[in-house]
Amino acid sequence: MATNVTTMIDSDRIAQRVRELGAEITRDYAGRNLVLVCVLKGSFVFTSDLARHIDLPMRVEFLGVRSYGEGTKSSGVVQITHDLTQPVEGDHVLIVEDIVDTGLTIAHLLDLLRTRKPASVKVCALLHKPARTRIQVPVDYLGFTIEDKFVVGYGLDWAERYRNLPFIGLVESSS
Ligand code: IMP
Ligand code: MG
Repeated sequence: MATNVTTMIDSDRIAQRVRELGAEITRDYAGRNLVLVCVLKGSFVFTSDLARHIDLPMRVEFLGVRSYGEGTKSSGVVQITHDLTQPVEGDHVLIVEDIVDTGLTIAHLLDLLRTRKPASVKVCALLHKPARTRIQVPVDYLGFTIEDKFVVGYGLDWAERYRNLPFIGLVESSS
């Protein structure tokens, strides 16, 4: 079980922040064709909670990405494992990411989605680790800024584990 994970952000704080982000997005996108683009796999929990706090007609699309990196390092070379199912030309796209770490993945996805000619593309990330920035990317909606620690839970994994934890936690190192 998850006994070796300590809580960094508990589920009440996450729920509160997600509610606030949903309200902000609802205000900002009123009257526009909003498409949430959930970046799989890590954002599946965040997107499902966030979507339920957006009080607008909107669509949800999924973008499966695999980052070519070893272990916990991102190379920024992103393979698309599942593409959008409908065009987003003329739509207002909001990319929903679990975490912006080096920024390389989001930079790549922004480039990719802009080729689809949306009316706008913005980024909503639950977490941001500014200490690890390698490329500056706009994070238009941000849940929490965190220090340079590897986190799990609420969709985020460590070797595919811990995605189901209802909070954001730190895996305790046994060394
Ligand atoms: P970036 O390209 O370095 O910004 O990395 C983005 C991706 O790396 C995220 O979407 C996550 O899937 C993964 N990632 C980065 N930091 C963490 C972490 O602390 N825990 C789990 N996954 C992470
Ligand atoms: Mg991710």
